[in-house]
Amino acid sequence: MSTATAVAVTGAEGFIGSHLVEALVASGRRVRAMVQYNSFSSHGWLELLPSEVMDCVDVVLGDVRDSGSVRDLVADCDTVYHLAALIAIPYSYRAPRSYVDTNVSGTLNVLEAVRESGIPRMVHTSTSETYGTARTVPITEDHPIVTQSPYAASKAGGDRLADSYHASFGTPVVTLRPFNTFGPRQSMRAVIPTVIGQVAAGERKVTLGDLRPTRDFTYVKDTAAAFLAVGTAPAERVVGRTFNAGTGGEISVGDLVRLIGTLMDADLAVLEDPQRLRPAGSEVMRLVCDAARLREATGWAPAHGLEDGLARTIDFFRDPAHLARYKTASYNV
Ligand SMILES: NC(=O)c1ccc[n+]([C@@H]2O[C@H](COP(=O)([O-])OP(=O)(O)OC[C@H]3O[C@@H](n4cnc5c(N)ncnc54)[C@H](O)[C@@H]3O)[C@@H](O)[C@H]2O)c1
Repeated sequence: MSTATAVAVTGAEGFIGSHLVEALVASGRRVRAMVQYNSFSSHGWLELLPSEVMDCVDVVLGDVRDSGSVRDLVADCDTVYHLAALIAIPYSYRAPRSYVDTNVSGTLNVLEAVRESGIPRMVHTSTSETYGTARTVPITEDHPIVTQSPYAASKAGGDRLADSYHASFGTPVVTLRPFNTFGPRQSMRAVIPTVIGQVAAGERKVTLGDLRPTRDFTYVKDTAAAFLAVGTAPAERVVGRTFNAGTGGEISVGDLVRLIGTLMDADLAVLEDPQRLRPAGSEVMRLVCDAARLREATGWAPAHGLEDGLARTIDFFRDPAHLARYKTASYNV
C-alpha cells in the first residue's frame, strides 16, 4: 500500500474517531478527516490534538447523508474508515428516522463512493449492541443479531449493507464490531464519563440508570489499534469478514461505580434516575466479547486493563480545561 496517498476517516471529530486519527498519524499516514458541517466552525475533539498531529490532517467539512460530499472525501484515498454515526440509544427512541438517515443511508453513501472510486479498503464500524442481551457468552461473531433499540437496528442495517456490497459487488469492506469503548474525550452519553465527570466536578451523589447490566469495556487506544489492524491486514485475512473487538472481561455498572469511587478516592452514593432507565425490553443486560477471530487474523490484543484505562480517563476529566467542555450536572441524552 502506497504511503503517498491519504486515508479518509468519517466521524473523525468524535470520541473514537479522534483517537483513530492520532493513531493513523502516529503510524505515518496523512488523514483526510470528515467533520460534520456545523456553523460554529467546531472541529470537535480534533481541536485538542497537538499541532504536529493536525499538520498531517486535512479537515473536510461534510455530511455522510450527502453522497457528493462523501464522494469528494474518499477520492484517491487507499483506505476509508467509516465511523460517523448517531450513537446515543435514548435519543434513538426520540428521533429514530435520523438514525436511519445517518447510520443506514450514510453507510450506503460511503459504500457507493468506495465502490465507484475503486478504493482498495473500507472499514465499516458496527457495535456490540447489535447482539442484544447475550444468549451465549463470550459472544462470537456467530451470535444472533437481536436489535433492541432503534440505534442497534440502524447499525445492523448498515452492517447488512456492508455485507451485501461485498457479496454483490466484491466491495473490499471489513466490519469492525467494537464492544463498549471508554477513555478521554468520550461524551457523557456513556456510563464511564457520566460517573467520572460527576465525581470530578465534586459530586458525591452520582445519578445513573440501571446498575445491573454488565459490559466488556475496552480502552479507546485499544479500539483504535483494532481499527488499524483490520485496515492494514492483508486483504485475504479480513475483507468480507466481521470482527469483534473487546477484552473478554465483564463488569456490572454497579461494580464499575464502586471501582471508580475507589480509584477517585471518593465515597459515592448512587441515585437511580427514572428518566435514565430504558424500557425493559430495550436494555441490553449482558455483553462479553470473544475477540479470537480478530486476534487470529491480525494479532490484535488489548494493551490496557480496565483499571489502567480508568486511571487515564480520570486524569483527563480532572483537568479543568477538559471538564469545562462537559455538562456534568444534567442528563446528556
Ligand atoms: N463508543 C462506544 O462504546 C462504541 C462501541 C461500539 C461501536 N461504536 C461506534 O463507533 C463509532 C464512533 O462512535 P463514538 O463513540 O466515537 O461516537 P461520537 O458521537 O463521539 O462520534 C460519532 C461522530 O459521527 C459524527 N456524525 C454524526 N452524524 C454525522 C453525519 N450525518 N455526517 C458526518 N458525521 C456525522 C459526529 O459528529 C461524531 O463526531 C460509531 O459508528 C459507533 O456506532 C462506538
